[in-house]
Amino acid sequence: MSPVIEVSHLHHTYPDGTSAIRDVSFSIAAGESVGIIGANGAGKSTMLLHLVACLQPTSGTLSIGGLLSHPGNVTAIRQRAGLVFQNPDDQLFMPTVQSDVAFGPRNQGLDEDSVTQRVTEALTAVGELHLLHRPPYRLSGGEKRAVSIATVLSMRPDILVLDEPSAGLDPSARRKLISLLSSLDHTRIVASHDLDLVLDVCQRVILMRSGQVAADGPARDILRDKPLLEQCGLELPLAAQACPNCGCSSDSPRSG
Ligand SMILES: Nc1ncnc2c1ncn2[C@@H]1O[C@H](COP(=O)(O)OP(=O)(O)O)[C@@H](O)[C@H]1O
Ligand SMILES: [Mg+2]
Repeated sequence: MSPVIEVSHLHHTYPDGTSAIRDVSFSIAAGESVGIIGANGAGKSTMLLHLVACLQPTSGTLSIGGLLSHPGNVTAIRQRAGLVFQNPDDQLFMPTVQSDVAFGPRNQGLDEDSVTQRVTEALTAVGELHLLHRPPYRLSGGEKRAVSIATVLSMRPDILVLDEPSAGLDPSARRKLISLLSSLDHTRIVASHDLDLVLDVCQRVILMRSGQVAADGPARDILRDKPLLEQCGLELPLAAQACPNCGCSSDSPRSG
């Protein structure tokens, strides 16, 4: 299958001289679900901002949905790839959920009937249509996260990019988020410290360390490689840790 995202020898240096991405290359096929993991400062968020053309490469190239990332393609790339920010308060700024979810499709120039249809469809997909008339600042953390995802789904992107989607969620909101992310058939790229979520949602993992790719492969292999994770400042996900009582791994096959 031809790649929907192709990153080639990408470097990013911020204006203050911080070198955040150093010679990163990978490609992602349509429909893949990929976790981007790494310690704080590894370059995950910087990488995601490139995938939605919020940042431009210092050198190297990115192709997103067949479009080369450069300033002239920013609008077209954002129609193909949508970013769910780490903090929902950065995403939700309108007086009602309805107007927030309608914002993107309206900006795309759709007529009001189509906008209404998109809003209904996106809020239904995240299971929160009942929040339509609520002000976003009165929602719970889990509701805000779901509505943030709806503001991106309403633009019908092919590629969904999420930065730390489970940050601040309680266990039941987190569980709901995992089933939502697992149910979507978009190409999904999820940066997260929540390695159990990554194990549940992603088939593949790109492990970053100091702005570089330290490993890229099946989630089930990388997320069970304790020495590799520890070298990169991470710990095994709980599901891959041995049970303190009997020593069995909680994701090992059970008999009986
Ligand atoms: N706007 C910025 N200006 C300068 N340096 C930045 C900026 N944003 C992030 N950085 C630096 O870039 C590196 C990568 O950061 P980031 O992509 O946020 O990592 P992560 O998401 O993995 O924690 C860090 O050293 C961080 O301090
Ligand atoms: Mg980050």
